[in-house]
Amino acid sequence: MERVEEAAKAARDRGLTEPYRRALVLGTGLSPVVDLLEDPISVPYSALPGFPVPGVTGHGGVLVGGRIGGEPVLVLSGRSHFYEAGDVAAMRLPLETLAALGVETLVLTCSAGSVNPDLAPGGLCVIRDHINLTGLSPLVGEPGDARFVPLGDAYAPEIARGLHSAAADAGVACADGVYMFFPGPNFETAAEIRAARILGADLVGMSVVPEVVIARRLGLSVGAVAMVTNFGTGLAGAAPSHDETKRMAREGSAALARLLSRFFGNGEHEH
Ligand code: HPA
Repeated sequence: MERVEEAAKAARDRGLTEPYRRALVLGTGLSPVVDLLEDPISVPYSALPGFPVPGVTGHGGVLVGGRIGGEPVLVLSGRSHFYEAGDVAAMRLPLETLAALGVETLVLTCSAGSVNPDLAPGGLCVIRDHINLTGLSPLVGEPGDARFVPLGDAYAPEIARGLHSAAADAGVACADGVYMFFPGPNFETAAEIRAARILGADLVGMSVVPEVVIARRLGLSVGAVAMVTNFGTGLAGAAPSHDETKRMAREGSAALARLLSRFFGNGEHEH
C-alpha cells in the first residue's frame, strides 16, 4: 500500500471517518484552538505511519477530527519545521493524508514576528502572499511536470476574504500582510529584519511556506493566519525568544479561536 493510503487508513481505523472537506494546521502555542472541536477524536501522530513526531516544545503532534458549528473539520495540531532535521518536505505526508481523507480547503496558522511597525504583537494577520528566498522548496527532487506549481494566488483570495469577514463577525481585529520565510531555528539578525521590510514583508517566520507549496501541489485551496508574537530583531521590544513566542501565542489563541470558529462554523465564509 502507498504510504499515504496507509496513513489515511490508520486515521479511518481510529474513527476519522467523516466526509472532511476542510482542515486546519495549528502552529506554536496555538494548540488550545483544538478545544473548538465538538466531539473530538484524537489520533497521535505516532499512530499514523510516516507522520513526523514534532520535537519542538509548544507543538502537540496529534490529528484531531471533530465538528465546528456542525461542520466536519480535521486539525493537525503540531507541525514539523525545516529546522528540525533539514527536511523542508517534512509536512508532505500529513498534508497528503488530509487530501486523501477528502480535504479541499486548508487553513494554516502560525506565530510570526512582525517587521511592520503598524502590526504589533498580540495582533492577528491574514497572510496574503509570501517571500521565500531561502532556496528551499519541498518539491525539489520530485519528477514530472506537476512540480512546476504556480504560486500566483497561492493564498486563495476568497479564503482570505472569508477569514476577514469571520474576524469582523467575531469582533477580532485582523490585518493583512506578506510573510517572509526564514529557515531558523535561530532568529533573524537586525539587518535581515530591515531587509525583510524593504523587500515587502510584514511578517517573518519559520513555517507556513513549505506547507503552502505542498498544499498547492496537492490542489488544495489555502488560507493562512498568523498570530504576531513579537517584533522582529532590532525593532521595538526585547530580542525575540521562543518562550515569548509560546506565551504570546497562548494568550492570543482565544481571539484566533473566535475567528476560526466563525470561519469553519459557517461554510458561507468560503464564498
Ligand atoms: N522570527 C521568526 N519566526 C518567528 C518569530 C520571529 O521573530 N516570532 C515567531 N516566529
